[in-house]
Amino acid sequence: MIKAGIIGFGYMGHFHYEKAKKFDDVEVVAALDNNEEKLSEAKELGMRTYDSIDEFLKEDMDLVVIATPNQWHAKFAIAAMKAGKNVLCEKPATMSVKEIEDVIAVSKETGKFFTVHQQRRFDEDYRALCQVIRSGEIGNVTTVESKVLGERGVCFGWRGDPESGGGMLYDWGVHLIDQMLQLYPDEKVVSVYARIMSILTPAVDDSFEINMKLSNDVCIKVTVTTFALEKLPRWFVFGDRGTLRIENIMSTEGRARRIKGDVRGFDSVVGKKNLGPSRTMAPLKPEYLEEIPIPKQEDMSMEYWNNLVDTLRGKASLHVTTDQILRQMKIVEASFKSAELNEVIKGEI
Ligand SMILES: NC(=O)c1ccc[n+]([C@@H]2O[C@H](COP(=O)([O-])OP(=O)(O)OC[C@H]3O[C@@H](n4cnc5c(N)ncnc54)[C@H](O)[C@@H]3O)[C@@H](O)[C@H]2O)c1
Repeated sequence: MIKAGIIGFGYMGHFHYEKAKKFDDVEVVAALDNNEEKLSEAKELGMRTYDSIDEFLKEDMDLVVIATPNQWHAKFAIAAMKAGKNVLCEKPATMSVKEIEDVIAVSKETGKFFTVHQQRRFDEDYRALCQVIRSGEIGNVTTVESKVLGERGVCFGWRGDPESGGGMLYDWGVHLIDQMLQLYPDEKVVSVYARIMSILTPAVDDSFEINMKLSNDVCIKVTVTTFALEKLPRWFVFGDRGTLRIENIMSTEGRARRIKGDVRGFDSVVGKKNLGPSRTMAPLKPEYLEEIPIPKQEDMSMEYWNNLVDTLRGKASLHVTTDQILRQMKIVEASFKSAELNEVIKGEI
């Protein structure tokens, strides 16, 4: 049996408990939380419960899942690995590059793995996007825009507290940065420019925009806000032969179109009376365009946990590695720095 324990039995603690339950050879034996109610919930599910990390880590466990607010991730990860446990940590891995470097050093020293729950790599919308881009059907991509917009306008609970690691860059930001780095894993990020804003939650960032330029000249734009009362597509991609839009997260609804051949002169645009104020920007005649189907995607919502358990069984290697997470945290840090200085941060990340 693979024995696991959970630190932080809130929303994501329960999520991981449910995932673990799907495996016959995984048993969640213990939980640690600083909230009595959460500990009672864990006890009812048959776990031994703790309010002290030292006592919790005396349990015989192969895996510790960390699902607390963000400021505790590094501290608990280091303690767990030093106690001989592998670690699955919720995102963001840590709150700084220095912290992730310390965590990686302990992972190397102890031989215990540290991985992060970047499960949005397996979302349908993202996999469809990767498939269309990699097929070359829309030509060479020049810009990829990734947007997540909400309406509530506030970051509630610990998400609105800077000391707990609140704010949207540590929240959705790390998922969206991870997706972009995985889309182009062999390219370097050569510049980062970010605006980070507090629109309705003064203490933390509730909105941000990050522009990254990659070494292949692709421009990446990531936008998150908790307050937008109109929708924009989840993904918008410009290629030099076509354009792709995907409307929503976890869905492949959208449209991809490409031009059939060379479009020259004004004969290719729709009739003169439809040109509007600009011939340059006039729409193409439909016969110059072809639609590219957006491929449907299978449900891969168990992929992250399947890979985790296979790794624990010694049959796979981890999808989410420390090298990838270190890179991601460097982008997060460059974004904070860029926003603070209102400067483009250049380098090779
Ligand atoms: N991967 C994802 O899609 C995803 C989605 C949501 C949240 N998360 C991440 O999961 C983590 C938890 O988020 P959540 O929404 O489950 O929060 P939550 O508030 O629902 O749960 C956090 C739990 O941690 C406990 N806790 C707080 N401080 C503690 C401490 N010092 N020691 C022990 N327990 C402590 C709380 O009592 C609570 O039970 C965060 O890091 C968040 O970014 C990831």
